[in-house]
Amino acid sequence: MNDHLKALEARRFAASLGGGTRRVEAQHARGKLTARERLRVLLDPGSFEERDPFVLHQCSDFGLDDRRVLGDSVVTGQGTINSRLVYVFSQDFTVMGGSLGEAHAGKIAKIMDQAVSAGAPIIGLADSGGARIQEGVSALAGYAEVFLRNVQASGVVPQLSCVMGPCAGGAVYSPAMTDFLFMVEDTSYMYVTGPDVVRAVTQEDISHELLGGATVHSGTSGVCDCTFENDVEALLELRRFFDFLPSSNRESPPSRPTDDPTDRVEPSLDSLVPREPGKPYDMRELLLKVLDEGDFFEVRPRFARSVIVGFGRMAGSTVGVVANQPAVLAGCLDSDSSRKAARFVRFCDAFNIPILTFVDVPGFLPGSEQEHGGLISHGAKLLFAYAQATVPKVTLITRKAYGGAYVVMSSKRLGGDINYAWPTAEIAVMGSKGAVEILYRGDKGDPDLLGRREREYQARFANPYMAAARGLLDDVIQPRQTRQRICRALATLRRKDLITPRRKHDNIPL
Ligand code: HXC
Repeated sequence: MNDHLKALEARRFAASLGGGTRRVEAQHARGKLTARERLRVLLDPGSFEERDPFVLHQCSDFGLDDRRVLGDSVVTGQGTINSRLVYVFSQDFTVMGGSLGEAHAGKIAKIMDQAVSAGAPIIGLADSGGARIQEGVSALAGYAEVFLRNVQASGVVPQLSCVMGPCAGGAVYSPAMTDFLFMVEDTSYMYVTGPDVVRAVTQEDISHELLGGATVHSGTSGVCDCTFENDVEALLELRRFFDFLPSSNRESPPSRPTDDPTDRVEPSLDSLVPREPGKPYDMRELLLKVLDEGDFFEVRPRFARSVIVGFGRMAGSTVGVVANQPAVLAGCLDSDSSRKAARFVRFCDAFNIPILTFVDVPGFLPGSEQEHGGLISHGAKLLFAYAQATVPKVTLITRKAYGGAYVVMSSKRLGGDINYAWPTAEIAVMGSKGAVEILYRGDKGDPDLLGRREREYQARFANPYMAAARGLLDDVIQPRQTRQRICRALATLRRKDLITPRRKHDNIPL
């Protein structure tokens, strides 16, 4: 090997060592992989091509001129996941705690720009102590450069984040602006102000985990979409998740061969809805029986559980699923579930993914807590998202579809393309008890009469045929044929094209 080649290899080797053996061991001792090890799990073997391995920071304040590591504190580049191109950055905690300075930000910005022009997704693996304190405002400006690109890439290429260590201060906003955010349990946390500041300002004593750990963000705040036990599980699931997504807004969702027949009949669905109207059942069962091979990737499974959202496939192609869950809050839409579903619908629409909506919703959740928490605005987000979505929309009402919640859940006149109902569907302004109490206030003292009136109302409205008679349903179908009918509907909608009027952007009620 000549000297030039040797020098190159020596540099490359030095860059691959990151912060050195001692810090790598410390990383492993915490149960975390290093930045490069993570990329090895995430990407197809041998596919990673690194960018900027020789970048050095240019700061000499606070002794930083003695602390230069090749590549600085982030590993960036491109690779493939199941042969599809993806751009990646993986923050290296072994180099100054993965802190972000000008050079680090510049590397991320460069691959984000390349991803957008190549029309390929971006995956960021976050593990960083935040803005590099020694670099001062240059570090903050670096964040701004990344944030700007997050926004510019939004709706152009899918952006995914996996938080695998600390993520604090304004740094949280980059992952928060990406389309989906995963976290690793016990080793990752996200917050705008950490426990020390919280203590100083509010006297509240709280740990990193309780303030911003994976459990909090997946169950309480809804900031995080999915959590995983460890780095390897998170990265392997990220690969599985990636397979559902198109590479950019210029592409159709990916399609792959399936052995699951599109005309598969599921007789057990005929008895999924219980005879008793108030009895819950698990909507997930319907999803698993209808989607290809029962494969469903649920997003935010622990947050706002009265609505289920996630990805599956029909006839081999990706679909986004939004479904009321009657087993939680009777399937009511509340503020959180409306926001959760709205964001999901908008992602699907931005990336050409058809939306399947499964409806069993008695209404919006009543109560002062919900009203004072902005239920009107949050419910309007979902309404807005559905009405705005131009992708194919297929809706199935299994049981209740009452009032405003019926309208919101991709109803016919809101722009549903194909709207089906099972014979067990009840489509009405409200349930029989509430309706009779309002319509026949004067009969309050006569329970027998009220009971009769309720049964009359029930007989007239607790079925799908009033809606079907007005063309508000395209058909009432046998539950067992659901998969076949939805596959056919999607096939007919494949070339759907809607022209929307020109405008700068809409004004969704944020
Ligand atoms: C420079 C940093 C750093 C930072 C960590 N390090 N964070 N260097 N700037 N922000 C360095 C440490 O000095 C240490 O260097 C190495 O990384 C590992 O850090 P440790 O503290 O030893 O690790 P650990 O005990 O695991 O603690 C991790 C930590 C802690 C919780 C992240 O380092 C920490 O609190 N860091 C500061 C976090 C923070 O306040 N950041 C600014 C947030 S505000 P040596 O040489 O000893 O190995 C922000 C604003 C962004 O980011 C605004 C965007 C708009």
